Amino acid sequence: MTFDLSKIVRPRIFSLEPYRCARDDFKEGILLDANENPHGPTLKDTKGYSDLNRYPDPHQLGFKTKIAGLRNAQSSFKNENLDPLTSDNVCLGVGSDESIDALIRACCVPGKEKILVMPPTYGMYSVCSDINDVDLVKVPLVVEDNSFQMNLPLVLETLKNDKSIKLVFITSPGNPTGALVDPKKIEELASQWQSGIVVVDEAYIDFAVTGGSAAPLVNKFPNVAVLQTLSKSFGLAGVRLGLTFTSKQLSKVLNAMKAPYNISSLTSEIALRAMEPESIEIMKNTVHEVIEQRGRVLKELTSLDQVSNTQIGGLDANFIMVQILDSDSKPCNRLAKTLYSKLATESKVVTRFRGTEYGCVGCLRITIGTKDENDHLVKEFTKILENLKN
Ligand SMILES: Cc1ncc(COP(=O)(O)O)c(C=O)c1O
Repeated sequence: MTFDLSKIVRPRIFSLEPYRCARDDFKEGILLDANENPHGPTLKDTKGYSDLNRYPDPHQLGFKTKIAGLRNAQSSFKNENLDPLTSDNVCLGVGSDESIDALIRACCVPGKEKILVMPPTYGMYSVCSDINDVDLVKVPLVVEDNSFQMNLPLVLETLKNDKSIKLVFITSPGNPTGALVDPKKIEELASQWQSGIVVVDEAYIDFAVTGGSAAPLVNKFPNVAVLQTLSKSFGLAGVRLGLTFTSKQLSKVLNAMKAPYNISSLTSEIALRAMEPESIEIMKNTVHEVIEQRGRVLKELTSLDQVSNTQIGGLDANFIMVQILDSDSKPCNRLAKTLYSKLATESKVVTRFRGTEYGCVGCLRITIGTKDENDHLVKEFTKILENLKN
């Protein structure tokens, strides 16, 4: 079977002519083409912002080239001789959340076609599928062995039996599982199923220690798209920048359908600064710090009596999951919920109760904070659990 993108993308989107502006042809001179305000931003102080009366660059080639270069340099597929990632492999979104929505809109006919997700997983796939009137098919991760890995045989079987599934979302490292999904399984899925797109959401990839990004695979498998974001390792959740690495052909489609000015000038300026070598060093240092603290927090919390000492999920993201046990050593949502509330109200530490997610009974998901924040968390967590015992 060969992959044919024209059969995956909705026909009118596949043949879409992107919006063009006069500035695609002429960038200089007196700019009277876009109905902007020639007097500048109406701010009291425009220092540093004097260009904000102009629409932003719709293409962002500088940032795209830099992020592609960064991921090429980090590639774990270097000995496979794949074509390097270039700016043509990238489409930018207002956070990965926009990229998720764009892929669903591009590929799934509302009311007819579907996406496949693997619970427990990130909640926005289901929100976006609802918004787009696209049904959700669930194939849970393997939880029995606590690996939270993809159930590849069941995924393949489900795809074989339901030809209306157009996208498969794999979260790697998973949220809330923290587990990297075996890249070999991603390759196997991409080579065995060609009637849709395998979307690998790598929001947490820089915190992974058990493997690297699948992004370079997009030049091997035209049916793979890899989502990344500046919200996590780069510490830039506030600027809202997500990116999709995919084949040049699909990237062209996604770029054609996006709102032309979806990335603001402020976002793109900060994003470019984040790609400077000194900034990349800072990113790597903070990731290192998070990884160190992650091990420490996990060790301290799982040594408590009422916390399972079996690690739940993986250690490839900037959070951990811990499972709260009752006096019979059974995972307990009631206790986990009480702990979650007391942490927030009495100790002013906000975590996330995940006990109703598939395979996560009794679990709290805890983001790894700074050392001081973690000191406070561990102290309060221990104190509340001790009080709950009595
Ligand atoms: C797995 C996953 N994907 C995507 C996102 C959203 O990222 P962004 O901030 O880029 O929209 C999150 C945010 O928590 C996430 O956990």
